[in-house]
Amino acid sequence: MLQVENLNAYYGKLHVLHDLSFTIGEGERVAVFGHNGAGKTTLLRACVGDLASVSGAIRYRGTPIVTNEAHVNVGLGLGLVQQGANVFRELSVRENLLIAGLRNQGRAQEEVFGLFPLLKERREQIAGSLSGGQQQMLAIGMALMTQPSILLLDEPTTGLAPVIVRDVLHSVSEINRNRGTTIVVVEQNVQATLEHVDRAIVLKSGRIVYDGPSSTLLEQESLWELF
Ligand SMILES: Nc1ncnc2c1ncn2[C@@H]1O[C@H](COP(=O)(O)OP(=O)(O)OP(=O)(O)O)[C@@H](O)[C@H]1O
Ligand SMILES: [Mg+2]
Repeated sequence: MLQVENLNAYYGKLHVLHDLSFTIGEGERVAVFGHNGAGKTTLLRACVGDLASVSGAIRYRGTPIVTNEAHVNVGLGLGLVQQGANVFRELSVRENLLIAGLRNQGRAQEEVFGLFPLLKERREQIAGSLSGGQQQMLAIGMALMTQPSILLLDEPTTGLAPVIVRDVLHSVSEINRNRGTTIVVVEQNVQATLEHVDRAIVLKSGRIVYDGPSSTLLEQESLWELF
């Protein structure tokens, strides 16, 4: 369970997140929406301890997140897929997974190949020559190599064709169903995402303006004016 209490985040003098508090339960699928600059990436970075200047408390399964030391928190079971398909373009699919896996290899890789058979077929292909959607799947696969119990994804479908958007979101749901992994996904494709999550948090200028069931957002289009 991820517990965020009175979180504030800053870049120098710029105050980006204002007193955010929420809890995410084990196995929950949560979407984070909000327009550009609302603080979505900053929130994910804070949750994995990848920010220097934060106040408030973030705990994962009762353990405080270590600030500014994201790699330490990987050991707690947090995995982040950063915005913009971060893969090593000049390396093969297999090599990318190897690097991401650190200590976990065989089993984790088999799990990734089970989820994305295409990556198995293309394991010797250079990552930079994969399509955008395939690179995004590889980026998700890389995050899974550390066998996280909570996976945070930052706009995994940006720039992808609508049919591929659905594929990627479906894969994220599969990870939740097959592994029980808790999902926190930042998305611009609101409508498509709402079909794959239980709950939505909407940020506006670094503040939470909605936190509730995705079904309520889906039904009440008036709420969309929030963002
Ligand atoms: N490294 C940084 N240094 C200084 N300011 C930053 C930094 N990263 C983000 N900001 C600022 O913090 C605010 C929130 O940015 P953030 O990237 O969290 O927004 P976002 O909701 O993820 O936006 P987008 O939808 O465009 O990805 C913005 O005003 C942005 O300019
Ligand atoms: Mg962002």
